Amino acid sequence: MRPLPSGTLTLLFSDIEGSTSMLKRLGAHWGDALSAQRAILRAAFTGQEGYEMGTEGDNFFVVFSSAHRAVRAAVEAQRRLHEHVWPGEIAVKVRMGLHTGEPQRHEDGYIGIDVHRAARIAATASGGQIVVSDATRALIEGAQTADVDLRDLGWHRLKDLAELEHLHDVVAPDLPDEFPPLRSLGTRANLPAYGAALVGRSAEVAAVVEAIERDGTRLVTLTGPGGTGKTRLAVAVAGDIEIPLDIYFVSLHTADRSALMWAAIAEAVGAPADVERLPDERALRALGDRPTLLILDNVEQIADADHVVSRLLNEARQVRALMTSRRPLHLVDEQEWPVTPLGVPKRGQVDVAAAREAGAVSLFVLRARMVRPGFDLTQDNVADVIAVCRRLDGLPLAIELAAARVRLLSPRALLSRIDNRLGEGVTATDRAERQRTLGATIAWSYELLDEDDQRILRQLGVFSKAADLAAVEFVAGSDGRDALDAVAHLVDVSLVQVVEAADGEPLVSMLETIRWFARDRLRASGEYDDMRLRHAQWCDQRAREIGELLDGCR
Ligand SMILES: Nc1ncnc2c1ncn2[C@@H]1O[C@H](COP(=O)(O)OP(=O)(O)OP(=O)(O)O)[C@@H](O)[C@H]1O
Ligand SMILES: [Mg+2]
Repeated sequence: MRPLPSGTLTLLFSDIEGSTSMLKRLGAHWGDALSAQRAILRAAFTGQEGYEMGTEGDNFFVVFSSAHRAVRAAVEAQRRLHEHVWPGEIAVKVRMGLHTGEPQRHEDGYIGIDVHRAARIAATASGGQIVVSDATRALIEGAQTADVDLRDLGWHRLKDLAELEHLHDVVAPDLPDEFPPLRSLGTRANLPAYGAALVGRSAEVAAVVEAIERDGTRLVTLTGPGGTGKTRLAVAVAGDIEIPLDIYFVSLHTADRSALMWAAIAEAVGAPADVERLPDERALRALGDRPTLLILDNVEQIADADHVVSRLLNEARQVRALMTSRRPLHLVDEQEWPVTPLGVPKRGQVDVAAAREAGAVSLFVLRARMVRPGFDLTQDNVADVIAVCRRLDGLPLAIELAAARVRLLSPRALLSRIDNRLGEGVTATDRAERQRTLGATIAWSYELLDEDDQRILRQLGVFSKAADLAAVEFVAGSDGRDALDAVAHLVDVSLVQVVEAADGEPLVSMLETIRWFARDRLRASGEYDDMRLRHAQWCDQRAREIGELLDGCR
């Protein structure tokens, strides 16, 4: 017997899909089928130096010291199973899952969370499918076995595992590559990630989760002015949902009519490309009767959004929608949820401990610490911080922009500048006034930038979504200041964010309110047409490069 390996190992679990019903259908032939699948799998696994740990009924647990070999073994096994002539032409289909980790050796086997994880991953697969964890993917990608490809299946929740798993499946020639959705507790594809913690809102998150999970509400709309935290709240709700639901984030800020809304939904839910079908059909087909929560973000500018939503809810009976909108849509069966700004301490209240309890103040402190790590509330600055939060109506986005300036300005200096900019006066009481406060705060933050940074911010307004660094450099880079250096500055003052694309590359992104502001300034500066032209040239250049790559494949 070879001694069992230890250290980083790839664990493979497999079992036959629907074995009980096969047993009934095959009757006396079941034993033959079982033996044939065992022989096929065993040959493939030992051919790649796998260590067979246990074979119960129709299950295998095999350990490999190389991730490459493990994947090769799985593909080989699936090929042989696929080619085999099965009794009664009832094909045996085996699901497989692979995960790489460091299980502990115990008696004559292995134990530990990685063993459970691998077993859970295998259980999500359909017959004939090989699902791999991200840890295994990282080891085999790049130097893959020649003809094997991996397909991203998004993030999934698995039973008894607290963290989400990023899963992939193996695509290989001669093997089926269309499978039903993974049998997980739901996917969490493409939810935006935030760099800073959520402040307050625990009651709101719990109430919306409760409405969706227990009351069975199928349509909730979070409404409120720009920058009040609707998207942030929707994402927090998605993170707290515990019932099995696939959750998809659909960004709609560039959509202005129903056809584009359908296209965005189809893309978000991963509907297969199909030129024969319209986006609405593709989206509805992909949703089918899967229990799903769609987060439809920024629906306010889509005039016929109500048609899309009612068709969605009628034709995909297991879909629920959580929307964000700056205006109420007044749909039938819609539960509207106004998102109010964060709490500000009562007038006259200057107690440090009590002030910390207020959402607006704690957001201010959190964001100020990101630019000045030692910053804290003190008896000396608490009144000014409260006054700033009150002046900004507790609007999270405005507070973020102001707090980002604490690197250079004390809360008192900040307050006097904000007062100058917004005009001293009463705090906003309605939506339109809040919008004005926010607009004035963005303008104020912009005017504090030096000229080159102002120019780059304006020019970034030409993009309609997150752009990669090469695009930013091409479109906004010029003789003056280095565009990327300016972007770093804009990130520091919270006007711009850097997010990660699916492939890990950085993308430069902005909140919509700021994008609209930048675009307005771009128009006012007379540079708009030039920038549109640069942007079009960039798209043209990219299209040519992609065209050449495609030619190279022919
Ligand atoms: N409770 C919170 N805790 C921490 N940060 C928050 C909170 N609420 C909002 N923010 C931050 O404030 C900014 C604005 O929030 P968000 O984008 O959710 O606003 P919105 O209401 O969706 O605006 P819009 O109408 O423009 O889409 C974001 O940077 C967000 O991360
Ligand atoms: Mg939003």
